[in-house]
Amino acid sequence: MSLIRGSRLAVMLLGPATWYVAGCAPPVQEAYVPSAQVTALSPENQESIKKVLTEYCGTVERPKLLGQPDMNPNHLKQGAAVYKQYCQQCHGVTGDGNGPQAAYMIPKPRDYRKGMFKFTSTIYGSKPLREDILRTIRRGIMGTSMPSFDLLAPQDLEAVTDYVLALTHRGELEALLGEAAEFDGKIDAAAVPGMVQGILDQWKEARVNVVNPRAPMPALTDAHVKAGKDLFLSIGCNKCHGDEGRGEVTDALPNDSWGNPNKAADITAGMLRGGTDPLDVYRRIEAGINGTSMPAFRSQFENEPEKIWDLVAYVMSIYDSRRNGIIPPSIILKPLPGVATGQSEPAASGSGE
Ligand code: HEC
Ligand code: HEC
Repeated sequence: MSLIRGSRLAVMLLGPATWYVAGCAPPVQEAYVPSAQVTALSPENQESIKKVLTEYCGTVERPKLLGQPDMNPNHLKQGAAVYKQYCQQCHGVTGDGNGPQAAYMIPKPRDYRKGMFKFTSTIYGSKPLREDILRTIRRGIMGTSMPSFDLLAPQDLEAVTDYVLALTHRGELEALLGEAAEFDGKIDAAAVPGMVQGILDQWKEARVNVVNPRAPMPALTDAHVKAGKDLFLSIGCNKCHGDEGRGEVTDALPNDSWGNPNKAADITAGMLRGGTDPLDVYRRIEAGINGTSMPAFRSQFENEPEKIWDLVAYVMSIYDSRRNGIIPPSIILKPLPGVATGQSEPAASGSGE
């Protein structure tokens, strides 16, 4: 080991050409690492969980996507290769959000294993659509270290999306197996297909959980901006975001569901993470943001969904105000094609900007 380290050091000091001369950089064997929940179990349970996970989800070299036994293995291998090149340094080999670059990042790269995603087109608590994950990968998450990968070839984008799903499902199954071992003391092989089906059913359900505006989007005029600002102050948005929407409140929010510190967004910073289409903002307000303190306001506006558009108008009027040097401007926005009717498809928000 020290010999290898020594030669690596020599490579660093002497430059890349000596890498080949030194000739002793061994191929790193990558493998999925078990969760903390699993490593706390007995060695026998750890072994049986590993066996089930390998059977259903494969290995780093031969990954499998849960519930898609007929998927071309080369498609997922391509996804794994893209992931290794572009994602792993942040999201980790296992998708636990713990890559070597993650340590000092705020917010942390997503730990996919919980099967929970923030920027979805679905209601609070629901799984995302596959398109939601693909859209996030294409446009990145503004204001965080998550880059945009819009320039990758379309097949690479499709493949890495399926690989993210493979890691996600693997993590979800691992957690269910871990719970079963904690609860029953062992893994009952006969129970595994039911666990797998349970996971897949939740993902299928996302289709019926899509949030489409319940009121058509109006032209977002000054009057809507003003009504939105009044609501912002009267229904408690300001308790977390501050009166000016700058996220400056003294009370700390509880950690997010991944165990990391969570801060209310500075809505004036020009960086809406979930996208800047009015439909994106509508969905954030109606459906909240999974895993964070940002609540869903659906029930509050059950019978007056048009008021959500007032809040959207206000958010749209201030979100870029710091970059523009004006706080808060009132602007008049034209309705987007496809959104005006309230009938738009979820893909409509994926403009990839
Ligand atoms: C430089 C670090 C970095 C790299 C590289 C990176 N990500 Fe991320 N990613 C992040 C961070 C940070 C977040 C969390 C942002 C947040 O919580 O708002 C994230 C979040 C995500 C999410 C979750 C979105 C949601 O709605 O919850 C997905 C999916 C994702 N990344 C996929 C990828 C894929 C695929 C790649 C490679 C093609 C990749 N990321 C590369 C840092 C990175
Ligand atoms: C209990 C605290 C809390 C309340 C109340 C709250 N928010 Fe939030 N909000 C948050 C947090 C936390 C985030 C950041 C989530 C993240 O991305 O990690 C956020 C994010 C946002 C964002 C940014 C979305 C994006 O795409 O980045 C908007 C816009 C927003 N909130 C609007 C509102 C509006 C409008 C209300 C009132 C109707 C409201 N919030 C009420 C906590 C709150």
